[in-house]
Amino acid sequence: MSEPSFIRICSVNDIPEGSVKAFRVNGSAVAVYHSAGAFYASEDICSHEQEHLSEGWLEGEVIECPRHGAQFNLKTGEALSLPATEPIAVFEVKVEGENVFIAVP
Ligand code: FES
Repeated sequence: MSEPSFIRICSVNDIPEGSVKAFRVNGSAVAVYHSAGAFYASEDICSHEQEHLSEGWLEGEVIECPRHGAQFNLKTGEALSLPATEPIAVFEVKVEGENVFIAVP
């Protein structure tokens, strides 16, 4: 399998601790999270009914969908609570200096 290619998304200062921002990457909606000292990235669409997860609530490595409250683990993408049953896609994140990169979806 080939190595994923990483693309620079933003500066670490663009996403304060405890917040999430939405980006378009190669035409896809991506959410980038900064929580508990780490950065995470996922598709910005809930697997339940297409809500933007970047408008949800972030706690530790869990994002809660703002529409019906499903929770997802940002490390694995696993759906942790109903009504979502399918995982979301998550992307590898690298921080180098001030720059945040994600493995392009
Ligand atoms: S749209 Fe996300 S839980 Fe329903």
